[in-house]
Amino acid sequence: MNSEREKPIGIFDSGLGGLTVVREIWRDLPQERITYFGDTARVPYGGRSAAEITEFNSQIIEFMLQEGIKAVIFACNTSSALALQEMRKRYPVPMFGIIKPGAKAALATSSNRRIGLLATEATVKSGAYERAILALEPTAQVFPMACPKLVPLIEKGELDSPETEGALQEYIDPLAEAGVDTLIYGCTHYPFLDSVITRLYPGRFKLVDPAKSCVREVREYLQQNALLAQEARGEDRYFVSGDPGHFAALGSRLAGRILPAPQKVDVFGENALKVLP
Ligand code: DGL
Repeated sequence: MNSEREKPIGIFDSGLGGLTVVREIWRDLPQERITYFGDTARVPYGGRSAAEITEFNSQIIEFMLQEGIKAVIFACNTSSALALQEMRKRYPVPMFGIIKPGAKAALATSSNRRIGLLATEATVKSGAYERAILALEPTAQVFPMACPKLVPLIEKGELDSPETEGALQEYIDPLAEAGVDTLIYGCTHYPFLDSVITRLYPGRFKLVDPAKSCVREVREYLQQNALLAQEARGEDRYFVSGDPGHFAALGSRLAGRILPAPQKVDVFGENALKVLP
């Protein structure tokens, strides 16, 4: 179990959203173990500055390196947009963002090259999706929409409340009017709203979850670098900076599988990065 290839893959997000990436690992790389970190004491990331996100991501990656991982997936678009480049300079571990795979998948999906982007304020402001899409297809048009209400609603488990439906209509109606044929879930939390979006806009959009193409890229990398796990799969481990009970209950419901109880990690003050009893 000690060889590099048998180490888990580190996956992190501000909260529950990264579980949409975990689901794809279960599907596409079922032999891989996962070490997950949900920064639930500091969710949402979407209104935060690049400096804050960089500091938080740095803490999380250091923690994961202490625990032992063979690669890190930024299962958070906001972190991929604002901190991934800097983290690559700081830590010598393979890192995977979710924005470039999402951009590729959206281009492969759209017929009219008019692509709507649902994302956090920070991701929209960064322009990262537009850059990634236009670098591949300069004639494409991206219609970004910041959706600050959605992550707090999803973190409360409100997937189809009237408030969630109202927020979705507020964000998606203008994109429908702009004639987009494809919507990118530019925040890893949003695929959990897939069924309510499909119900509100039946057949209107093609919906792109970047987690799928992100995990495909991870699989190709692991294959090419002889890093695919070979032994029987061990236990996944979950860490959160906020309430472990809430994460376990809602996370199991959202991911559709009972998650092992998460351990709490302090991210503040003197005890930062210690696993709490
Ligand atoms: N799920 C994250 C993302 O993909 C972060 C959302 C947030 O915390 O605002 O951007």
